[in-house]
Amino acid sequence: MGRLIILVLLASECYFGECNKQVIPPSYCEIDLGVHALKFDFRKLSEVNDDYILKHESTNETIKFQLCKPLKKTCNEASGVAGCLIRGNEEIILGKVPEVQHEDGRISFSYVGEKCGDKFYYTFNVIMMCDSQAEYSYPELFPYDQKQCNFIAVWKTKLACGVNFEASEHSVDCKVTDEKTKTFYDLGSLKKTSDNYIVHIDNKSSIILNVCHTVVFGSGVVCPFSAACLRNSTNSITYSSIGDVSSPKIVNGSVTLTYSTGALCADMTHSDTTISFVCDFKAYETQPALGQLKDDCHYNVIWKTIAACDNKKAEEYKQKTSASCKFTNPITNYEYNLDSLKGEDYIVRSANDEYKFSVCGPLLTNFCKKGNDDSAGVCSAHNRIVGGKANSKLISTVGGLYLNYTDGSSCQGNRSRFTIIAFRCSPEGSDAVPIITEESTCHLVIQWNTSLACEKKV
Ligand SMILES: *[C@@H]1O[C@H](CO)[C@@H](O)[C@H](O)[C@H]1NC(C)=O
Ligand SMILES: *[C@@H]1O[C@H](CO)[C@@H](O)[C@H](O)[C@H]1NC(C)=O
Ligand SMILES: *[C@@H]1O[C@H](CO)[C@@H](O)[C@H](O)[C@H]1NC(C)=O
Ligand SMILES: *[C@@H]1O[C@H](CO)[C@@H](O)[C@H](O)[C@H]1NC(C)=O
Ligand SMILES: *[C@@H]1O[C@H](CO)[C@@H](O)[C@H](O)[C@H]1NC(C)=O
Ligand SMILES: *[C@@H]1O[C@H](CO)[C@@H](O)[C@H](O)[C@H]1NC(C)=O
Ligand SMILES: *[C@@H]1O[C@H](CO)[C@@H](O)[C@H](O)[C@H]1NC(C)=O
Repeated sequence: MGRLIILVLLASECYFGECNKQVIPPSYCEIDLGVHALKFDFRKLSEVNDDYILKHESTNETIKFQLCKPLKKTCNEASGVAGCLIRGNEEIILGKVPEVQHEDGRISFSYVGEKCGDKFYYTFNVIMMCDSQAEYSYPELFPYDQKQCNFIAVWKTKLACGVNFEASEHSVDCKVTDEKTKTFYDLGSLKKTSDNYIVHIDNKSSIILNVCHTVVFGSGVVCPFSAACLRNSTNSITYSSIGDVSSPKIVNGSVTLTYSTGALCADMTHSDTTISFVCDFKAYETQPALGQLKDDCHYNVIWKTIAACDNKKAEEYKQKTSASCKFTNPITNYEYNLDSLKGEDYIVRSANDEYKFSVCGPLLTNFCKKGNDDSAGVCSAHNRIVGGKANSKLISTVGGLYLNYTDGSSCQGNRSRFTIIAFRCSPEGSDAVPIITEESTCHLVIQWNTSLACEKKV
């Protein structure tokens, strides 16, 4: 019943001339790379009512184009044009039917238009890039200068992943729990949908891999469907699977991905790839590195990343270190950056006590924690006294910067403790460990000589 109504509506729309006559787009929009059944069909991108319009703000110019059919309107009074530049009052032809180019996974639509000056022609290149998440995406124009002849746009779209993509895309759960320690890990943040990780073996060969997901097709990545693939350009460029998608496992207490049943090796066993993860709280957006290479069949990759840390601790760490530890001198505009001191607990000792403190964020391991209050930035080891709550408000002073952690444990009746962490400028290479320079019932002063507190002349 529902279907019938839709049919009637469509028919009536067409009857009143509202829908385009079904123009069969030219076949140049169907591309067969002839390898691994990689076929593409971009005709869908021209099943739109309006032409694509790319605005370029800085030059106040506009490019109108279509991939698989001519523009709806004329360009500089010419019809059959597929790319048109609007520059001031002028309309410039960027090209008629584009030429489709593909080389080693790089697919582009290349337009050549009218003359630009005496020697050159206007050109427009649309580079197609696979992004499995990009369903109704718009191309992006590369920024350019005034009076340009050549223009480039990048179009991230699911259609550039291939027509068989959905059937062959393989994405698995990326979480694992260590049953012994009940620790939960989630590598999901490492999964990529528009590019891959590359681990170089030598100048000519590299491992292309993804996490819990098939390798994403693209420039220099014409892999068979697999989670890891070997690219070798020693003679001609070849690609072979070195392991299928799988979920992480706990091996010997650490998170490991084992991609097995890759292409056959010389000894008729299947190739595979093992990715060993190492938890490192400070390792954001790191790249995997080549591990020990035993032979041409079994590949090892090592990856230091926060994603491989106990999920709960990683979230806590991110939250505690999220504040920016920077200060800009309003007169010189110089920006002090103490971010590298974040995310670590430091220990300082006095004659009577030992204190743990952190910079620009709460302590990571806080023995002064009371109930849910985890805000301490200084905690004394002997008495579990909070020296002050952490903050990231850097204050500038002669010869450096300081933090004032206030609202610590109460002292002298109704007062509360505070701690000054003073960063004093000291020349590069003379960085010292922090020391206590003042200690009293209600306050503590920690001094830290570091080159990070120096204003370099800019
Ligand atoms: C940009 O160009 C359009 C015509 O193409 C014009 O109407 C508009 O005033 C221009 N804007 C600026 C800021 O130059
Ligand atoms: C890789 O290339 C660089 C420069 O092109 C060369 O110096 C180096 O020796 C090469 N390394 C190998 C292992 O071929
Ligand atoms: C790449 O191919 C060359 C020539 O076929 C071969 O000698 C070399 O071992 C291959 N590299 C890898 C990493 O498999
Ligand atoms: C686990 O660790 C032990 C000792 O370090 C080692 O001998 C063994 O090969 C490891 N097992 C795996 C599967 O990596
Ligand atoms: C730090 O804060 C405390 C409490 O608000 C205040 O008494 C003290 O003067 C401040 N010290 C500095 C150097 O800003
Ligand atoms: C508490 O603070 C007030 C001022 O805010 C002061 O007058 C009073 O003497 C203090 N009490 C103690 C016990 O220190
Ligand atoms: C830090 O620098 C000051 C001079 O700016 C110096 O007096 C002090 O001894 C230094 N402290 C350490 C621990 O190096």
